[in-house]
Amino acid sequence: MYSRDFYVSGSISADFTYKDNAELYNKVEDIPGEREMLIQGSKHLLDYAKRVGRKISILDVCCGTELILDFLSSDFKNRLESFVGVDISQKYLDDAKKRIGSDPRFELVNHDAVLFRHPRKFDVIIASSAYHHIEDERKPDFLNNIFNHLKDDGIVVFMENIIPKYSNRVERDSAAIEFYAKRIVDCIDNHEIKDERISLLSRVMQYERDREYEWKSHYSLFTKHLAAADLEVISVKKVWPKEKIFSDNNVGDFVFLVKKK
Ligand SMILES: C[S@@+](CC[C@H](N)C(=O)[O-])C[C@H]1O[C@@H](n2cnc3c(N)ncnc32)[C@H](O)[C@@H]1O
Repeated sequence: MYSRDFYVSGSISADFTYKDNAELYNKVEDIPGEREMLIQGSKHLLDYAKRVGRKISILDVCCGTELILDFLSSDFKNRLESFVGVDISQKYLDDAKKRIGSDPRFELVNHDAVLFRHPRKFDVIIASSAYHHIEDERKPDFLNNIFNHLKDDGIVVFMENIIPKYSNRVERDSAAIEFYAKRIVDCIDNHEIKDERISLLSRVMQYERDREYEWKSHYSLFTKHLAAADLEVISVKKVWPKEKIFSDNNVGDFVFLVKKK
């Protein structure tokens, strides 16, 4: 077993990655916080479907392997009219297809979620660990695209890892390093996680430092971007960490319920 110092150093092989590797991706998502975001997100979907009292349409942007389907009850699935999942990785979509089977209500599209256009608007848009995978300069277009695909009375469920506040590139590096170093220590010390998920979390941190594949934001920047896209936050729930491991309470894993302004 590697020492804790090894894991927090970020010095791991670039070849060992969850990017486009569905098996490793599903594994690294199986940690406290990531699971709770999907659980909380699926509750919002059920609540919305019950509230509107009709079958609903869903667009899932950056849907990946469609892990959220594991958290949706049969009660919810009975309330589903149609479900479109969009992702840029065909390998992830192939894995998503295994979760969906032959259910004709589902459509998976291999496309850039910023440029994707669909002729209809949706009741619910899921953006689970999606915004932080879009390059900074394209984030406004991504959010505008979400707005344009949302019905006027629809909701968006954002699930996001929010890093400490930063005001420049160097501080952003430090923020991402603090976020992942503490996350790794929490996994090892408080949740007995000692397998390859630790190396995969180091890989996430390294992507942030390399400015490749992962571009996380701090809380006020994310909410500012939402407001600029005419999206209003209805509720926010922080699901990780439960303990105070960051000095700023607005750091961790969050589920944002959002509507059109
Ligand atoms: C962290 S995963 C989230 C997957 C899934 N939503 C979940 O919560 O498990 C991020 C996903 O974004 C996808 N992605 C990255 N850039 C994208 C883009 N420009 N358009 C569509 N998908 C993108 C990746 O392929 C990956 O599946």
